[in-house]
Amino acid sequence: MDLVSRLVQLLGPERVSTVESVLDSHGRDEGYPESRRPLVVVFAENVEHVQATLAAAREHRTPVIPYGAGSSLEGALVPLGPAVSLDLSRMDRVLEVRPEDFLATVEPGVTHGALNRAVRHHGLFFPVDPGADASLGGMAATNASGTTTVRYGGMRHNVLALQVVLADGQVLELGRPVRKTSSGYDLKDLFIGSEGTLGVITRLTVRLHPLPAHVHAARAFFPSVEAASEAAYEIMATGLPVARLELVDDLSMRVVNAFLDRRDPEQPALFLEFHSSTEAALRAETEAVLDVCRAHGAGLVQAAQTPEERSALWEARHKVYWAATHAYPGRAFLTTDVAVPLSKLPKLVAFAHRLLQETGLVGGIVGHVGDGNFHVFVATPPDQYPRAEEYSERLVRRALEVGGTATGEHGVGLRKRKFLAEEHGPALPWMRRIKALLDPDGLLNPGKGPA
Ligand code: LAC
Ligand code: ZN
Repeated sequence: MDLVSRLVQLLGPERVSTVESVLDSHGRDEGYPESRRPLVVVFAENVEHVQATLAAAREHRTPVIPYGAGSSLEGALVPLGPAVSLDLSRMDRVLEVRPEDFLATVEPGVTHGALNRAVRHHGLFFPVDPGADASLGGMAATNASGTTTVRYGGMRHNVLALQVVLADGQVLELGRPVRKTSSGYDLKDLFIGSEGTLGVITRLTVRLHPLPAHVHAARAFFPSVEAASEAAYEIMATGLPVARLELVDDLSMRVVNAFLDRRDPEQPALFLEFHSSTEAALRAETEAVLDVCRAHGAGLVQAAQTPEERSALWEARHKVYWAATHAYPGRAFLTTDVAVPLSKLPKLVAFAHRLLQETGLVGGIVGHVGDGNFHVFVATPPDQYPRAEEYSERLVRRALEVGGTATGEHGVGLRKRKFLAEEHGPALPWMRRIKALLDPDGLLNPGKGPA
C-alpha cells in the first residue's frame, strides 16, 4: 500500500490531503525563497494521530515535517525531498488554565493570540510575541521570542513542560509545572529550539504573567542608529524594568510611512513600553528612561498613554515586517537576524546600517535591542538575491566575530546552517549525535537546524 493510502487508512480521509493548494501552502514559509511541495499533508487532531503518522512514515521511510502556523522565516518547514507535512493547527485547544499557579496547558496549534484571549479575564497574559500569529508549538520549536522578551523572557523562559512524541512513537513528558527544578538533564530545553528534528511537540505547559496595572508607551527619535542603540544600552544599564525596547531605523520608518500612509518622523527611533504596579513608579521609570534618551540626542519624544494611542504606536513597529514585504512588489525579500553581547550592539547596528548604504541595497533595521538582537530586511530584484544573501552573510560573520549568534530568534532552518560549525565548534558533532540517538533513521525534519 502506498504512503497516502496507508495514512488514509490510519487517519481517515478527512485528515489527509493531497490537494494542490494545500501542498503549496505547506511547502513554503514566510521568509525562505525556495519552496517544495510535500507529498501529502496530514492534519492531526490528537497524539494518536501524530503516532499513526509517524508509524506510516517509518514503514515508508519518508520524513515528517511538523507544521504549526507556517510563519517561520528560515526554511525550517520547506521539504528537501519527498516528505509528509504534519499539520498540528487542528490541535488548538487550551486544555487547562490554572490562574492560581499562573500557568496554562495547551495543544501545540494554539496561537499566542488565542491563548491571550483565553486567559485575559483571569487578569493574566502570555508575553512571548514574535510578531506573526505563530502557534505555540512552532514557537517552542524555534525558541521564539520578540518585543517583550527583554522583560519576560522568550519561549525557553516561559515553557515549563512539554509532551513530545519521538520518531519511534514513544510519548515523553518533559519538565514539571514548577518555576524551578534541579532534577536531571533538562530534556525539555533540548526540544525547545530543535525545529522539529528531535520529536513532535504535542502539548505545552506555559507560564502566565499578571497583566500590568499601569502601562505606558513612548517613542524617542534620534540623530543616528548608533545614538539610538547606545541609548538602548544605557537604558539596560539603569536596571529599570523596561517592558519593550525596540529600535526602528529611519529606513524602516520610511517604509512603514509609505505603506501605512503615516506621517511619522523618518528618523531612527526607540519604541518603549513600561509596565508598573503603581502610577508613581510608572511615571518615575518612564522619566528616567526618557532622560537617558535625551542625553543621547533624542530631540523628539512622544508619549502614548491611552490604549488607542498605544496600539497606534505599536502598529508602526509590528507592521514593519509586513510593510517591508509588501512595499516592494516583484522583489525578492530576505530578513536576517543576529544577536550579540549587549556592549557590541551599537557598533554592529551601525555596521549593518552602513553596509546597507555601501552596497546600495534597499532595506531597513528593526531590533529587540534590549536583548542585543536585531533584524535587517533586504529587498532585491529576484535575479540579484545573492546580493541579499551576501549581505546577511557579512553581517552574521561580524556578529560571530564579536561573540554573537547567527540567529537570535528566527532559528537555523536551512539558511543559517552554514554558520553552525563556526558558532558551535566541537559541540556541533555532539548535537548530531543527540539527533542520531533520538531519531536514528533521520525521519524528523532532516537537513534542518543542526540535524
Ligand atoms: C520581528 C520579527 C520579524 O521582530 O522577528 O518583527
Ligand atoms: Zn523579531
